[in-house]
Amino acid sequence: MSKLLLQAIDCKSTARRPVWIMRQAGRYLPEYRELRRRYSFKELASSADLATEITLLPCQRFPLDAAIVFADIMSPLPALGVEFEFDPGPVVANPIRDQAGVDALHDVDPETIAPEVMTALKQTRAELPDETALLGFCGAPWTLAAYLVEGRGVKDFPTLRAFAAAEPAALDALLARLADLMVHYLLNQARAGADAVQIFDSWAGLLSLADWERLIRPHLQALLEAVGNAGIPRILFLQNAPHLVEAYADLPAEVLAVDWRVDLAAVQGRFQDRRAVQGNIDPAILLGGAAPTRAAVTELLQRVDALGHIVNLGHGILPDTPLESVEALIETVHNESELSRP
Ligand code: CP3
Repeated sequence: MSKLLLQAIDCKSTARRPVWIMRQAGRYLPEYRELRRRYSFKELASSADLATEITLLPCQRFPLDAAIVFADIMSPLPALGVEFEFDPGPVVANPIRDQAGVDALHDVDPETIAPEVMTALKQTRAELPDETALLGFCGAPWTLAAYLVEGRGVKDFPTLRAFAAAEPAALDALLARLADLMVHYLLNQARAGADAVQIFDSWAGLLSLADWERLIRPHLQALLEAVGNAGIPRILFLQNAPHLVEAYADLPAEVLAVDWRVDLAAVQGRFQDRRAVQGNIDPAILLGGAAPTRAAVTELLQRVDALGHIVNLGHGILPDTPLESVEALIETVHNESELSRP
């Protein structure tokens, strides 16, 4: 099978670089906003049919090399008995603040984890062109714990950091439960048709390197190893954590994805064994329209070697992004061979 994205993940040379966009099924799409007038986000994400329709939307509009299933990082957590709403981000009913909170989590039957996501993956695969890869995803244990402990997304997650300092054993137990759930969740996604998976560690950078090594790394590494042992290609994404990039580069994943603060060419240069990299245009640049987008993508393509480079943004696409900017991004990638002509 000649899926460009999978070739790039394997660091094979490709006719051109593959491109997809984090949060590509989101609010910048007029068709998505239309659906949101009729349904809440929770209704959209909990219906396999609507989630399938939304997963396919960006691929119908743009020649993207991958679809990513429409769900949230919170989608598998009801299997643990966690209750939450969206406003607009996740708001957890009973935040976990001690060992008793961890002990109250339910035992998991792997077959019951987010069945709507599995159905959406199967239905999407049936509709997608063969050459388009289908991505599954999950939140990294620490990023999920951020919501479970803090209760919602707040700047710098102070309650979470206090919990990490005061209750390291409870945090360890929580991360172990989450890592175990995510392994089952990702294995099920691969079985349902995901060609590769992205692990989003959006709040990776909240602790120092030493605390990350001690508290977080063992659980993230165990998750990545289990998924790798099952033969599933892994894209590991970290956000706002420049002090951790070297540590993440040592974790077992086929692809390291970084945000726009990081020099992607330098990350690529670090890998002796030529692992793939993904990223990393600043999503804010796209707000400025097609011309600045084209300039930023051209510069990225010149700096970063094509072998093993998956083009993407450095974080999720912003709601006010003009469609022309998305077109300009993809077109610039598709026209790369013309760029280098004299
Ligand atoms: O953006 C990231 O850092 C990626 C990881 C992540 C997702 N959800 C993946 C996702 C994180 C950190 C979240 C938490 C979350 N959930 C937020 C962030 C803000 C906060 O308050 O902490 C929000 C707004 C939600 C709720 C949510 N998730 C909405 C309203 C939507 C709809 C589409 C949109 O972009 O607004 C989502 C979808 C979603 N979350 C996807 C993914 C991978 C679906 C796939 C896609 O949009 O392409």
